[in-house]
Amino acid sequence: MNANWQGWDKRYQDGFYYGPLQPHQLVSRFWSMAQSGSPVIDIAMGTGRDLFVFAEKGWFCCGLDRSWEGIKTAVQGASERGLQFFPIFGDAYHLPFKEGSASAVLVFYFLVREIMGDLPSLLCPGGILMYETFLQDQNNFDRPRNPDYLLHHGELIGYFRGLDLMFYEEGTFLFEGKKRAVARYVGRKR
Ligand SMILES: C[S@@+](CC[C@H](N)C(=O)[O-])C[C@H]1O[C@@H](n2cnc3c(N)ncnc32)[C@H](O)[C@@H]1O
Repeated sequence: MNANWQGWDKRYQDGFYYGPLQPHQLVSRFWSMAQSGSPVIDIAMGTGRDLFVFAEKGWFCCGLDRSWEGIKTAVQGASERGLQFFPIFGDAYHLPFKEGSASAVLVFYFLVREIMGDLPSLLCPGGILMYETFLQDQNNFDRPRNPDYLLHHGELIGYFRGLDLMFYEEGTFLFEGKKRAVARYVGRKR
């Protein structure tokens, strides 16, 4: 069992992710590539910022997280926006979703290597996977993070060779004046 989730309740209580959060750029750019008709699943959704983009467009959305505080914030955020989604308190190690059920799977700033191979199987034909998280290089210029939860160069794209690649980049980018070393992936199931 990974201990990555521990402490997230406290972080959310302490105002981590405080304020109205924008969706990640990848979602803003690629949401329209998802087909309608099947749910959108956000694994480790946090406060739900990425899921809300799809909920606004009418998708049925499910968000999984291991933090009650994160879920609480997401439910409140959805209510304030007049949106509905289906929150799931659970551990990403035991994904409660059916194979072939999702028109999109989102994973942002969360890494559990044990489930990487399962993510494409959640997609229905034509479904898209969006994944973005930190590279190990992030530890060169930010607070130290456990390298177990940071990607090696070339690692992310390697997990999803069975999908059709739509977008991939990795490197260090300036985001709101701060350096971020990230990998970003979008792929589609045939
Ligand atoms: C860095 S936050 C990212 C949240 C969101 N995806 C975003 O980018 O705004 C990581 C999230 O992963 C959740 N988490 C950590 N371990 C988990 C696990 N084993 N299963 C489900 N969620 C987990 C935390 O509660 C937290 O909300």
